[in-house]
Amino acid sequence: MSLTIGPVHEDFVAEVYDVDLSKPVSPDVLDEIKTAFWKYSVLVFPEQTLDQEQHVSFARNFGPMDMTVLKSAVADQKLRVREDIADVSNLGPNEEILEESNRLRRLQLGNRLWHTDSSFKYVPALASLLYAREIPPTGGQTAFADLRAAYDALPEAMQLRLEGLVAEHSLVYSRERMGYTDWEDHERKAVDAVPQVMVRTVPQTGRKNLYVASHTGHIVGMDDRDSKPLIDELLAHAVQRQFTHIHRWRAGDLVMWDNRCTLHRGLPFDDLRFRRDVQRATSMDIANSCEQEGIPVPDVSLREAAE
Ligand code: OGA
Ligand code: MN
Repeated sequence: MSLTIGPVHEDFVAEVYDVDLSKPVSPDVLDEIKTAFWKYSVLVFPEQTLDQEQHVSFARNFGPMDMTVLKSAVADQKLRVREDIADVSNLGPNEEILEESNRLRRLQLGNRLWHTDSSFKYVPALASLLYAREIPPTGGQTAFADLRAAYDALPEAMQLRLEGLVAEHSLVYSRERMGYTDWEDHERKAVDAVPQVMVRTVPQTGRKNLYVASHTGHIVGMDDRDSKPLIDELLAHAVQRQFTHIHRWRAGDLVMWDNRCTLHRGLPFDDLRFRRDVQRATSMDIANSCEQEGIPVPDVSLREAAE
């Protein structure tokens, strides 16, 4: 109908034109967007002009808002934007570029690891809608990986091995990978591990995918000597070039992705020199991934790094 959809790959990433997201979208247009979203998993809407309210209003079409984890993860920091938007910029509360040693900056550098948003929360994120207000002149692209294609390409023996397995996810585990351990006790408790299934099915398409991210720390019921190398092997498999796409930002781009079946990571840029103001409104999934797969939900909690 009114929209123009330009696929980038056969069923991964599409650009969407001829829609103004600053205004409420009609039910028909929303249906078209959702159909494209389920099919392509990543949608790029160029040249949008959105204030925070308009950004959040559009995101609400995909589920209730996921509140930023930053409030509990770096409890001493004043946030620059409202709590239903995750500030993914390199800026502080006074619009200043964050200094090298700043704790919020160091925690946020974890966005450069391959991850899926809020898999460390019991009910993870469904759609993330990242809006670029200001971008650096070089670097700072966002890379995406298609976890459906990655699952399809796994040897059948591995697909069978993963069926029904549950993994523990936490922000502590991803930050551990990059040497960030500066948690206050109450902050660590607030980001305790949660269970997520390792193979999930997106109900709208029936496609299976590998649900593993740098937030994944352990596999329930498996010895760490086996589970850590397996997690790393699966992550390395999932982010091979043939499953990935790099988005080069222009100010005004709104990019939305399905966290149930994609990974993403921010690529480096000189964040001590250039400003990058990107803000994310995120809608929550409908339930924990084990619940959605009909798998009993195990009790899990954070394990010590030294274990
Ligand atoms: C995010 C994220 C990466 C980037 O917004 O969730 O991980 O490139 N962003 O900013
Ligand atoms: Mn993210």
